[in-house]
Amino acid sequence: MSAYENLKQKLRAEPKRWLVTGVGGFIGSHLLERLLELNQRVVGLDNFSTGHARNLEQVRSIVGEEAWKNFQFLEGDIRDLAECKCACHEVDFVLHHAALGSVPQSMLDPLASHASNVTGFINMLVAARDAKVKRFVYASSSAIYGDDPELPKVEDKTGNPLSPYAATKKMNEIYADVFARAYGFSSIGLRYFNVFGPRQDPEGAYAAVIPKWIAAILQRQPVLINGDGETSRDFCFVENVVQANLLAATTENPAAVNQAYNIAVGERTTLNELFALLQSGLRQRDPSLPDQKPQHQDFRPGDVRHSLANIGKSQCLLGYEPTHRVSDGLGLALDWYRQNVI
Ligand SMILES: NC(=O)c1ccc[n+]([C@@H]2O[C@H](COP(=O)([O-])OP(=O)(O)OC[C@H]3O[C@@H](n4cnc5c(N)ncnc54)[C@H](O)[C@@H]3O)[C@@H](O)[C@H]2O)c1
Repeated sequence: MSAYENLKQKLRAEPKRWLVTGVGGFIGSHLLERLLELNQRVVGLDNFSTGHARNLEQVRSIVGEEAWKNFQFLEGDIRDLAECKCACHEVDFVLHHAALGSVPQSMLDPLASHASNVTGFINMLVAARDAKVKRFVYASSSAIYGDDPELPKVEDKTGNPLSPYAATKKMNEIYADVFARAYGFSSIGLRYFNVFGPRQDPEGAYAAVIPKWIAAILQRQPVLINGDGETSRDFCFVENVVQANLLAATTENPAAVNQAYNIAVGERTTLNELFALLQSGLRQRDPSLPDQKPQHQDFRPGDVRHSLANIGKSQCLLGYEPTHRVSDGLGLALDWYRQNVI
């Protein structure tokens, strides 16, 4: 049995109390869904700056009213220390996901990114430390690798951050590291590589590439590719990220704690390949959709050219084994978007 299957059995037998920040967002709502399905008690914190109440409603309809009773939602802001302290009260594990996640938004408004992603982050560290939580797992990012050209990315070799967003995530890792040394605080950072799946927001200027393109194809609108389309990413289905969070929160391996890990699949897909996969997947499901060619535009400032993870460290120390490859995840995501996006 895998480490993850073992862990799920153990959690069902001995439920814990979890705090998920950013619970109204894409990844946060998946963490909530899995935790409630495992009969855990969950506190959620979100200010709905980029998340949505509809994500919580969807989780409620999936898990059912009985499990939903184990969820307590606090509408609040991590920039406010008192709200962070209130959320951490009697919590075993924190899964910290509240942040402004957009690279282009951080280029336009670095102060806003700093306020939520750095000030909000240290507020959460202080609140979690004072509440004596057992483990603080937080969302870092592959953006940390910045201008380092080496592929695949290995955790101990990072480059210079290319955007204010990347700088905020680097600051998160620095603060987590300092809290370990200064206060004996136990945390784990997860460097996500382009996560995708149901409930990832297709709306707005800062939408991620997969939901944006699926929505465009479904709405018979042109698909715009930044650059020549040979930019590549290690796309990771959200269920793999959920697994990594649960393993990181509960690992009892001392060597695994106070570390940062790549969380991805270890598969590289170019934007041109991604477009072809999305278009063919959607046209198989609805042959009336037009067979369009993507339109190329300028490269986007702050974006890295290639991204591919070495996931050996998370496999070895956390027992992480991605259950969904890109094509498995895309199939599930396409079905969801067809039902939920017009
Ligand atoms: N999606 C990805 O590919 C990806 C990749 C790398 C890292 N991450 C990180 O994972 C985390 C979750 O990302 P996501 O894709 O689910 O984004 P998301 O925007 O869907 O979720 C973030 C949530 O945090 C909330 N939030 C933002 N600022 C807040 C504040 N000041 N106080 C309270 N709540 C606040 C938002 O309302 C939203 O619900 C973020 O930290 C992001 O930087 C995501």
